[in-house]
Order: sequence, then C-alpha cells, then structure tokens
Amino acid sequence: MLKGKHIVLGISGGIAAYKSAYLLRLLIKKGAEVQVVITPNGKEFITPATLAALSGKPVVSEFFAANTGEWHSHVDLGLWADLMVVAPATASTIGKMANGIADNMLITTYLSAKEQVMVAPAMDLDMWAHPSTQRNVATLRRDGVIIVEPGSGELASGLSGKGRMEEPENIVAAIESYFSKKETLKGKKVVITAGPTYENIDPVRFIGNYSSGKMGFALAEEFASRGADVTVVAGPVSLQCENGSIHRIDVTSAHQMYDACLSASRDADCVVLAAAVADYAPEVVAETKIKRENVEDMTIRLVRNPDIAAAIGSEKDGRVLVGFALETDHEEENAISKLKRKNLDWIVLNSLRNPEAGFMKDTNKVSVIGASGQEIRFPAKSKREVASDIIDTIMPSLV
Ligand code: C5P
Repeated sequence: MLKGKHIVLGISGGIAAYKSAYLLRLLIKKGAEVQVVITPNGKEFITPATLAALSGKPVVSEFFAANTGEWHSHVDLGLWADLMVVAPATASTIGKMANGIADNMLITTYLSAKEQVMVAPAMDLDMWAHPSTQRNVATLRRDGVIIVEPGSGELASGLSGKGRMEEPENIVAAIESYFSKKETLKGKKVVITAGPTYENIDPVRFIGNYSSGKMGFALAEEFASRGADVTVVAGPVSLQCENGSIHRIDVTSAHQMYDACLSASRDADCVVLAAAVADYAPEVVAETKIKRENVEDMTIRLVRNPDIAAAIGSEKDGRVLVGFALETDHEEENAISKLKRKNLDWIVLNSLRNPEAGFMKDTNKVSVIGASGQEIRFPAKSKREVASDIIDTIMPSLV
C-alpha cells in the first residue's frame, strides 16, 4: 500500500528522534520514498548521516546549502509529498505549526504541504498536559492534521505518564490506514448542502437562522479525505474548504439552493442535506428598503419554499439520500416520520436539548437512523469526528 508513496518525514528535537530511524526503515521497507526534513535541534538527537543512509536521500535541514548557496525548496517538497509525517513533534514544533511560525525548513514545508499532514507528539507529561500544548494540538486538529496520540509510560525525564511518542509500528499502521481510507470513496460523487438560507424581506433585511454550516463542511472534508468527488452547496456562511478538491457553490435563498442542489446532484451517488433551509419565504420582496415611518405595524405573508430533500427523494434513481433532523420534542418519532415522508435512506438526528449539539457549536451528538429501522447513537464528539461516524454508518449503502 505504501509502495511508491512520497512521504516527507519531519523530525524535531526530542529524545524520541532515535525512534524516527526505525520509522524511516519501516517506511522504506514497505516501498515508500521518504524525504527527511529535520529541525536544527533534531540534529542534536540523531545525525543526518544515519537518516540519509536509511532514506537514500540527502537530509534537508537548512534553507540554503552552506557551501554552494543552493536553495532547498520547501514548496517543491510540499508539492512532492503524498503525506507529511512529523515524528517526533515536540511542543515547540507543534506550537510553531499551529501558529505558522515558519523559522525552519520543517515548518515552511508544513505550510507548503498540499496533502495530509500527520503529527506524532513526543514530550514530557506536564508539557503534553499544558493548556498551551493542548490548545495548539486542538488547532492542528481543526486545521485537518491527523494526531497520532502519544502513549503513556516511562518518559526520558524519568517521570511516567502520557507523552511518549507512539511506537513506529503503530505510526506506520496509522499511515497505512490513512492511505487505505483515502481510496474508499474514489469515483463516488457526493453533494452536500450546508448552512442556513436567507430569505429576503427587502434589500437589507432577511429571515434567516443560526446554522453555521460547520456540520455540512465537516462532512465535505471527511468525504473528500476518503477520495469522494465532493460538491458543497453552501448558504451564507463564513467557512472555508480546507481540501482543495472540494467544489463549492455559494447560494443565498432556499430557491437558489434548490436549483443548485438539484442540478449538482443529477449524477451524484450520494446527497447529504445538512442545510437548515428556511421552510417559508416572504411572498413579496420589497424593491426598496421598508421605512419605519410608513408602517405602523406589519404583517409579512410567507409562502412555502420547495423541499430539496423531498424533491430528490421523489426521484431517487439509486442515489443514497441522507437528511438531518433537529428536533425539540418527540425526537425519534419525528425523525423517523421525516425519513419516510422524504424517502430518505438515512436520517441524522441531533437534539437541540443537548448542550453539546446544534447550531454554531464545534461539537455534536447524533443518532443515525436507517430506513430499515436500525439506529446507532453516538456520544458527543467534534463535528469532524461526527462526520466520520456518519460516513462509516452509511458506508454499506455507498460501496
Ligand atoms: O422538514 P425539516 O426541515 O425538518 O427536514 C430537515 C431535513 O430536510 C434536512 O435534511 C434539511 O436539509 C432538509 N430540507 C430540505 N429542503 C427544505 C427543508 C428541509 O432539503 N426546504
């Protein structure tokens, strides 16, 4: 599986750097091409000569070769890599990665990396537990970096606790699992709606809702990381797509979302409706701003918006259709009736009653219910992890 894969192995200055030689050897044995990038401190722990001999390539550390002035291009390295693995990643390197402090080749290569980055932290237990480290690790996770959690045990300091770099065999297993996952949805086209819709009242006012789009965007990233061809039809949100392969169509109103979604999903294998689409819109949109002086009290007549889920559900044509339900009462009952009414294959239920679920939050707590009655309840997790659980659950209908 790793045969011919281009891997940049970033090594920073921790005792665990000696384990990187084993990691490198395992990767080479599995047929990967490995380019080592080491920080100046890393060289205090393991010599470039060892790493160059094991990888069969000169080790990169400085921006320029001292004797010839030749420039080492972090951009080329970032483009070359199918994966960048930083092992060991010290607290300092994690902090620099999280904050873009690009003062060495490892960090500039990280900032130029187009593909996935994986980090195997290694440090003393108190450094690992420090709020600053945990903040930086959380930032890296949010930025899409895979963290290979450190293990617990005896540390170089003589103390015992969490902070040991994961064993090279387990890092290789994480790398293999990343590459195998990346292929699972190759060739599948997925359309996802995300965010709210705004229904105009006049040129400056609208009826909207609090949806942030985070769940839909997390699904888009997770589908893309598994190799799917993803299109997001996004209502007005301030989010960016991390994965450059994701196609994005920005819309404002439910009608625009309906048109964009129906046309994008014509040849889709799976459509996920994670948007909070307004059910109603003002019947008439004022052409000029409604002035307070002219109106004592006001009634806005609302008319029904088209139901995107139901429209696709009525002509499913082999597509796997996944809807969301955000309920305040009779949650499961309402979700199952929605699943049937809209002819969905799966419905993801999140309850507004749960403090870790819902609008604008970074976490969610969901149950996934299938058309044949099966239900899986998940604990509260980050929206990216929830996205992964949802995809794992619906996978049998997709492949
Ligand atoms: O009926 P309700 O709005 O609660 O259904 C929620 C599900 O239907 C969500 O998946 C949502 O994205 C989808 N929906 C839609 N078009 C609408 C309203 C809801 O696709 N107009």
